[in-house]
Parts: sequence; C-alpha cells; structure tokens
Amino acid sequence: MRVCSIIGYKGESLAAPLLVTCLQKMEYRGYDSVGIGTINDGKVSVKKGVGRVEDVDSNLLLRVLPGRIGIGHTRWATHGEVTEKNAHPHTSCNGEIAVVHNGIIQNYSELKSKLIRKGHIFKSETDSEVIAHLLEEDYVQSGNLRGAVQNTAKKLAGAFSFIAAFSDGTIAGARFDEPLIVGISNDGYYISSDVVGFLKYTDRAIFLDNRDIVILNGSEMEMISFDGAPVVRPITQVAWEFGGIDKGTYAHFTIKEINEQVDTIVKSGKDQENKIEQVSELLKSAPFVYFTGSGTSYHCALVAKALLSKYGRRKSDAIMSSEFQYLVNDIEPDSVIVAISQSGETADVLEVVKKAKPVGSKIISIVNVPTSSLARLSDISVHMNCGPEIGVAATKSFTSQLTILYAIIDELSGGVIGLEDQRYRLRNAVKELIERQSVIEQITDEIKDVKDIYVLGRSIHYPIALEGALKIKELSYVHAEGIPAGELKHGPLALIDKNSCILVLNPNDSTFDDVKANAHEIKARGAVLIGIGSSPSDVYDLFIAIPEVDEVLYPLLEVIPFQMIAYYLALEKNANPDYPRNLAKSVTVK
Ligand code: AGP
Repeated sequence: MRVCSIIGYKGESLAAPLLVTCLQKMEYRGYDSVGIGTINDGKVSVKKGVGRVEDVDSNLLLRVLPGRIGIGHTRWATHGEVTEKNAHPHTSCNGEIAVVHNGIIQNYSELKSKLIRKGHIFKSETDSEVIAHLLEEDYVQSGNLRGAVQNTAKKLAGAFSFIAAFSDGTIAGARFDEPLIVGISNDGYYISSDVVGFLKYTDRAIFLDNRDIVILNGSEMEMISFDGAPVVRPITQVAWEFGGIDKGTYAHFTIKEINEQVDTIVKSGKDQENKIEQVSELLKSAPFVYFTGSGTSYHCALVAKALLSKYGRRKSDAIMSSEFQYLVNDIEPDSVIVAISQSGETADVLEVVKKAKPVGSKIISIVNVPTSSLARLSDISVHMNCGPEIGVAATKSFTSQLTILYAIIDELSGGVIGLEDQRYRLRNAVKELIERQSVIEQITDEIKDVKDIYVLGRSIHYPIALEGALKIKELSYVHAEGIPAGELKHGPLALIDKNSCILVLNPNDSTFDDVKANAHEIKARGAVLIGIGSSPSDVYDLFIAIPEVDEVLYPLLEVIPFQMIAYYLALEKNANPDYPRNLAKSVTVK
C-alpha cells in the first residue's frame, strides 16, 4: 500500500521552487522521502532525499534545480525501504526520462524481469521504477512519445497515476484508479494527485478520468485515452478555501482542527438541507441500508446504524469497507449504501461503491471534498463543509460526518432527535470540553507510562470507545483497544492488572448502571480508572465531566476528550501529532 503525492509543472516560472511549495501543501498524504526532477536545456536533473520536504530542501536545496519544467513527489513507502534510492523521481537508463508515481503496480515484478532481460538496470527496489524503463523501451524503439505513454499505461496492472518528464521538455500524466488533476494557471499547467497541490496558484482544474492521459508539449495541452482517442473533460472551478491551509497560531494542525469543532458542529449539514431531505427519503424507501467507511469513518457508520435502528426504526448494517468489498456482490439489489469518507479518495470505500453500482445499489456519500472521486461516483453526495483537515488523525471530520448523519436520521424520524434546537448547546458543550485542558493534561501525565490502554463503552458509546482507542494509538503509539464493556468478563478482563489504564464511557443513560458495575470489576483488579460521563463516582481515579445535552447526542461530545488526550500524549512522547509515523491522510490504494 502506498499513498504518495505527485506533481508536475510546465510554464513560465522556475519549476523547482513552485514544486517545493506544492509538495509542502500535499505532504499530509505521505512524508517519508521527497524528490524533484527538472528539465533544462535538454537535460534531466534529479535531487531526492529522506525526510520531510522542508528538511530535504534545506539540506539539498531542491529549489535551486534549474528549468521551467519539472515533477515532484512525496513518498509513503511499503515497496522498498525508506531510502534515498527508493525516493522518486526514478529515471530511465539513458537518464532522459524521470517519473513520479502514486499507487501500486501489481505486475511490477513480471515487468521488471522482462526489462532486466532486455538489459535495463534498476536502481531502486520500488515498483514505480518500471514505468521509467517501460517508457524508455518503447520511446527509444518507436520515437513516438505519445504512443510510448499509451503503451506503458496499458501494460500496468493495479491502481496508479504517474507523471513523466522527458528531456525534450514534454510532460505526460496518466491515471487509472488513482486521482490526477490538471491545474490551468495564467503562466502554465500543473498536473497533481490533489488539487491542494496547486490551489495556491490556480483554482481552474480538470479532473482526469480513468484511462486518461494528459500531454503537455510546447505550450499545448492534449488529452487522450489509453487507446489514443481524443478526450474532452470540463474545466471545474475549485473552492479557494482549500488552498488557504495554515496552522495559524496553533502549534499543530491537529489541535487547530480539534478547536475548530466549536464552529464546525454548528455548520455541518447547514447548507445541505435539500440533500439531507433527499437522503432521508431514499433511506425510508430502501429495502436495506448499509453504512460503510474506513477507520474513523467506519466508527461513524457504527453510530449511524445504532441511530437509524433506534430513531428511524429501520434495519441496517455497518460494515468496514475493507471487508465489505468482498460481500458487496451479494447484497440486496436495491440497497442503499451510505459511504462515509473525509477524503472521498479511500481506495477501500471506492472499491465497495464501484462493485455496488452494477448490483443496482444507490450510493449516498458524506465527504469533505466535494470534487473527490467518491462524491463523483455517488447518486447523492452530502458535503461535510468542515474545511480542510490536514492532521492525519480525523477529528473535526468525525464530528461533522456524525452531525450530518444525526440530521439525516432526525429528518427521517420526524424530528425526534431535535438536532437543530440543540446545535448551540452542543457548540457550548464542545467549547467547555476543549477548555478542560488542565484535566486532560493531568490524565496525560497519569497515563504517559502505561503500556496498554483499554476504552470501554456500551451501546452507542462502543463506537466512540473504538474511535477513542484509534486516536490514542495513531497519535501516541501507545497500545489502545476499544472494548464493548459487556464483553469484558468474556475474556479481556484477563488482561487487566494494576499496570493497565482503563477509560470508561459512563454517561447517564440506559447503559449507566451496567457500565458502572464493569468499572467496579476493573477497580478490584487495581487498574487506573478514568471515567467520562455526567455523574462522577468514587470508582474513578480521574473523571471528565461531559456537559449536559440530550443523551442521544453524547457521542458527539464524548469523542473530544479522546482527541485531546491523544494529542497531549503524542506531545509527551515527542511524536509529531500531525504526521504520525507510518500513516497517511488519505489511503488511496488497497
Ligand atoms: C483516522 O484518524 C485515520 N487517520 C483513518 O482511520 C481514516 O479515518 C481512514 O483512513 C478513512 O479516511 P477517509 O475518511 O478519508 O475515508
């Protein structure tokens, strides 16, 4: 699995400094190595190194590479270690073609063996390098650059997008199941894996489709299919707000985004009322509803399922997308699939949707990027409207997607949840929770050396236990597990001793007494117990009080202390909360 950023530029400005800025904007996708290649006077020059863009640039001065044509890459590796030689761009044997790639080439070993037999020498352990050699092999023999790009794209199996720069000054990009977008500015063209890459320079974008190729030759842009047929795609104006990504006065994007929930919880779904009505009508008449997503978005799906059953009186299921893709061929033909995804580019989610459409399913999506692949594949797409989320850990996108699902189920059930009347109460409650930084820091101090953290919750709070544990593990690298509190005595209790720390979701609802009884069982084993709820109790060593709101809305609030604990625990451990090791913001390949 790999999640990289790729960018190309051809225009009137110097390419390298622009490419460095573009890569910094996209660094949240992958950040273990970086490289740039430019073309100047018929010569390809490449510089690359291990680390974040800023560090590699200050050591190697990527930005001084000459030329007005170039490509760049940030990497998130699995095929081949994190080394300079595995960093992109990769070059052909004759050094006249440089390539950056995002995705995975499934048939790379077979292609590589054939190329080696033809005399090609490989410099890296990556699957990506085959693209440079395939292009060279075809181009040297045919002298036809256009044909070489087409033939190379057709030979690759898997999900990929790549950009190749040729020593004659041509840049070509091709995509299959990985995003690739052309940006058109007054002084040139960009080709990028994400609009965020070039939004600082232009908001005019062309979203390439699968099997599209773009060729920038001289001052011309040409779009063709893998088979060479001309392709026409519309120019879209992209919202500028996505370009203005800045930490402001905050130390990290993650804490900025946690704080933004005070506003996003009020805004989410507000300008989408029509769509929310349409979705609720669709859910009412659907024979069966499936909620799906990955990671945090899957946890949201679990809450949605519980809400739909309790308030909408409708049966549904929540299945994580990485598993659902194997079941989706056999679902009821007229089912409705609600696909939840911050990025709208998660490969597992897209796979479910692509398989479900031919079965006859209607696709509803809840996304934060309205131009994303998922939004474009959906029958109805509801925009989260919570602004760009850069921190790898999902925070404000979770509460936004959840708020939209509350709004949908509220609409469907004739207003039994009463979300609209409670928006401002919720806003104040989020604010109060964020301001309880001193309790959070006390808790962080208490648990900073524990090896295992367990998070317990029952019913609608169990998905929040899963989400809380996910936040802790991804940001602080401490082992954390969400457990349904009732399952404790069926096994997990064996793990608990005085060295464990247990966070217990114990709000004042129908789960209160049972969860408290579980807390006592744990207390008897000497573990550190932290309660999260509305009624403090002696059983807890520390307690985070959740401000009073209607019970049904508790999940929206309970998650905030976990986001804060995870953030401060990461700081304690000297980990960068915005860029957790081994992770990437959008996982665009399986
Ligand atoms: C959340 O903190 C994670 N970084 C991750 O689980 C994420 O939620 C998941 O990859 C799904 O992403 P999406 O919402 O963009 O589809």
